[in-house]
Amino acid sequence: MLISLGIETTAHTFGVAFVNDKGEVLSNVKSVYTPKEGGIHPREASKHHYEVAVGVLRKAKEEAKVKMEDVAVVAFSRGPGLGPCLRAGATLARAVALKFKKPLVGVNHAVAHLEIGYLKSGARDPVFLYVSGGNTQIISKVGDRYVVFGETEDIAVGNLLDAFARSAGLPFPGGPKIMNLAKNGKKLIKLPYVVKGMNVSFSGTLTAAEKLIGKESIEDLAYSLQETSFAMLLEATERAMAYLKKEELVIAGGVGANERLREMARTMCEERGARFLDYPIEYYGDNGAMIAWTGLKQYLFGDTISVEDSKVLVRFRIDDVRIPW
Ligand code: ATP
Ligand code: FE2
Repeated sequence: MLISLGIETTAHTFGVAFVNDKGEVLSNVKSVYTPKEGGIHPREASKHHYEVAVGVLRKAKEEAKVKMEDVAVVAFSRGPGLGPCLRAGATLARAVALKFKKPLVGVNHAVAHLEIGYLKSGARDPVFLYVSGGNTQIISKVGDRYVVFGETEDIAVGNLLDAFARSAGLPFPGGPKIMNLAKNGKKLIKLPYVVKGMNVSFSGTLTAAEKLIGKESIEDLAYSLQETSFAMLLEATERAMAYLKKEELVIAGGVGANERLREMARTMCEERGARFLDYPIEYYGDNGAMIAWTGLKQYLFGDTISVEDSKVLVRFRIDDVRIPW
């Protein structure tokens, strides 16, 4: 049995996990940096990561009941992400790899979101809707690459929710708070709805919603923001599913933790005779398990790097990665 250690630190989350080659998650521990006000400060977030690193690693190791000798590979998120945060995880990974003489694997964070969704949902050949703080993309695998068929032309949907929340005086991250406020919203306020083929655009929606803060109730605004942006996402996704003739949908990334988005995805799929494949919420947002699992797959295909060559890649594109499995 092969065991992989995964370290995730692209942004706010410091996550460590141990996963085996059957895809069983032995432990998945995280510590999340939350700014006192405003958005993420990369340096502050990385300071948090350095401070919690040893404790989180120890806890993950205890929960998994593994010894470092049993570990086959050390995987870390190499990018894309915030430089100081990425370097915190890479530093820990290099230290562990050197100390215990283990191979090192650099994982693309976006690929990892899709791979854990693929594993946990049991999908075979899905369209992925990847929705997070920094990304909004509609993706599917073609040959040995993940290909982006649609994306946001400006801000990511997680950024839309976080930025609106911030303007409304709600703390970061805004997504979960908007979700809870939206449950008490009743009135659907008309907001800009922009879908162009398989692409979407959210900046006009954000500006319009921000202008209504104080004029409409925050619950109605949260509700309308979700209904509008999620309908846009699913219209573009449905188009991609029809175009690619795919019958499975998997959502990946932190915004996938939103109950309403998943409910709307299920309805859309049912109406077209397709399947929305859901999985436990802990794997939607950033987590160590997705890095451990993807790193283990890469290791099995010989995709390891030396410590000297393990520089982080702040702008690591998903289609730069060959997916041989
Ligand atoms: P990436 O590099 O993949 O863009 P990320 O740093 O944005 O990653 P994730 O954990 O994948 O990290 O996503 C975080 C985003 O998910 C934030 O924008 C947050 O507001 C959003 N989010 C988390 N929970 C919910 C929820 N319940 N509803 C809506 N959005 C949510
Ligand atoms: Fe992420």
